[in-house]
Amino acid sequence: MALSQSALEQILAPIPWITGINFFEHLESTSSRVRDLAHTGAPAGSLVVADGQSGGRGRKGRSWFSPPGVNLYFSILLRPAGLEHRHVPLITLMAGVALCRGLQPLLKDRRATLKWPNDVLVNGHKVAGILTEVSTTGRHVDYVILGVGVNVNQPTAMWPPDLQARATSLYAETGVVYPRAHVLFQVLSHLGAGYSSLLRGKRDECVAAWKRVSSTLGKPVRVQSGHEQLTGIARDVDAAGALVIERPDGTWHTVSTGDILE
Ligand code: BTN
Repeated sequence: MALSQSALEQILAPIPWITGINFFEHLESTSSRVRDLAHTGAPAGSLVVADGQSGGRGRKGRSWFSPPGVNLYFSILLRPAGLEHRHVPLITLMAGVALCRGLQPLLKDRRATLKWPNDVLVNGHKVAGILTEVSTTGRHVDYVILGVGVNVNQPTAMWPPDLQARATSLYAETGVVYPRAHVLFQVLSHLGAGYSSLLRGKRDECVAAWKRVSSTLGKPVRVQSGHEQLTGIARDVDAAGALVIERPDGTWHTVSTGDILE
């Protein structure tokens, strides 16, 4: 089903924290567009959705495969007044939980889980990704751009061969073609609830919710953090959202940013 400005306005109308909807058939990146909006003083809750992207950005400088007509690509401007800089990683964890909650009812008997920090996996394959970009002045958080890609109706064969083994979509898992605006509504509903809970200071609840849907904890991991690689067992995620690893020598190590390698 085609996405359009009017369809999005209609279906997202009951979501009060979305203050503006900006739909584009094509963009380089919805997150870049939100950054432009942020610089012209757009309000928190401004949403940008694109049917397709030519320069979709992923974490760690990677690209995000963004063909038109099949998936969801959207970014939201957040201005989290009162949230300290050190707590911004919790927005990423919260968004991962919201995605799992929003997508789970559409996945039938398949389970959506989170690989630290926020890859949404189904059967070990990535169904959605989150890119959180922060603009700060000193320790003050000016704004956060939450960029989300959800693989909705993409058939597996549409991915380049190297991604076919790692990616999946709601359609590839269930055989069901979902209206993308409906999927967006589900995800935004959970995002709104999680975000307002975070702003009310419920950081422990956010981390606890993340742990409940995580597929990382208790497993052996190899983590790339900067130039360093660490192996061990993922033991915990701390109050700041950092991964705690037990090294083979029994020492515990905390990793704030990084990637779990396959
Ligand atoms: C990841 O690497 O897992 C994060 C992927 C985030 C992709 C989304 S698609 C919409 C938004 N616009 C972008 O350029 N990137 C994010």
